[in-house]
Amino acid sequence: MGPTALITGITGQDGSYLAELLLSRGYRVIGLLRRTSTTSIERIGHIQDRLTLVSGDLTDEVSLINLLREFRPAEVYNLAAQSFVQVSWSQPVLTGETTALGVTRLLDAIRIVDPEIRFYQASSSEMFGRVRQVPQDETTPFYPRSPYGVAKVYGHWITVNYRESYGLFATSGILFNHESPRRGLEFVTRKVTHGAARIAAGLQRELRLGNLEARRDWGYAGDYVEAMVAMLARDEPTDYVIATGQTHSVRELCEVAFGTLGLNWEDHVVVDPALLRPAEVDLLVGDASRAARELSWRAQVDFYGLIEMMVAADRAALVG
Ligand code: NAP
Ligand code: GDD
Repeated sequence: MGPTALITGITGQDGSYLAELLLSRGYRVIGLLRRTSTTSIERIGHIQDRLTLVSGDLTDEVSLINLLREFRPAEVYNLAAQSFVQVSWSQPVLTGETTALGVTRLLDAIRIVDPEIRFYQASSSEMFGRVRQVPQDETTPFYPRSPYGVAKVYGHWITVNYRESYGLFATSGILFNHESPRRGLEFVTRKVTHGAARIAAGLQRELRLGNLEARRDWGYAGDYVEAMVAMLARDEPTDYVIATGQTHSVRELCEVAFGTLGLNWEDHVVVDPALLRPAEVDLLVGDASRAARELSWRAQVDFYGLIEMMVAADRAALVG
């Protein structure tokens, strides 16, 4: 049996890809599952019998301490968060409790139980917000534009602080947007690929979206989890930007997704002012050259390959 890793957020998009990767490398994988009245293991159902799923919550420090004591992981990947930016305006306190203070609870549990544990924090390009520099790298100052972005800045700095205060092997991956066929339906890439596939199948006629001009650096989640593992395998803990280096607008996303299905997006997309955000992040594009140099990490799937993959999966799920 290889090393033991704990993943918080194992039921999410990234958690499912990371669990697959760690299993393929011989790890024993423990997944933190929060209690819900219906099951949320859709993304990990295919590997469930190879995982140890344990009950806990980032808002409950005792549950974290107890499970670290019981399973003694060598590595902890903190992927759990309230991760949807739009909802962070309607639930700012819950977002802060989970996405910000949840990181401190987990770091403190590590400090108390076993300070040798290697820790990965899921930081975000959303921290760059109203960008101070183009492209953004590890030295770019943060200017968050949402309660979620503010919470992630806290999570990032508390990770750096516990590294510097207590000598923990605590790292922060500043990941730009990454997507997949397992992406939640509320995020714009999946909303568009799923919506376009349903329109092509005659199941709906229109797709309502918000800001079409926002630009993002979109990569493939399967590539990005490789960087997380590589970060914890380094001799020294440090922080990395993980990105493709290419940026595209939501408008281009629509063109490509609908175009793949032989449809004209302008016949179907309706801009709905209710979907505009109180403060927007207009442009994200990352410079991942430190990761290329030190982790030998590069994105393998580009924007066009990613959108084609997602459209194909959504289409296949509808037509069987
Ligand atoms: P996701 O699909 O929304 O998954 C979030 C996970 O967090 C789910 O497993 C969810 O559990 C869990 N969770 C939420 N609140 C929790 C709590 N109080 N206690 C324990 N678990 C809780 O997110 P993702 O796209 O995989 O992203 C993974 C992480 O990377 C997140 O921290 C996100 O903020 C960050 N990130 C994502 C991106 C991206 O583009 N995907 C980019 C940068 C950073 P349930 O299934 O029970 O809801
Ligand atoms: N969700 C959504 N829905 N976004 C829309 C829509 C819509 O109908 N219409 C336009 N957009 C625009 C948003 O305004 C935003 O500018 C962009 O599409 C991307 O939105 P999301 O896909 O919701 O992602 P995000 O960039 O806000 O946040 C994601 O990436 C972050 C990394 O930068 C999430 O995964 C975060 O958890 C992650 O940290």
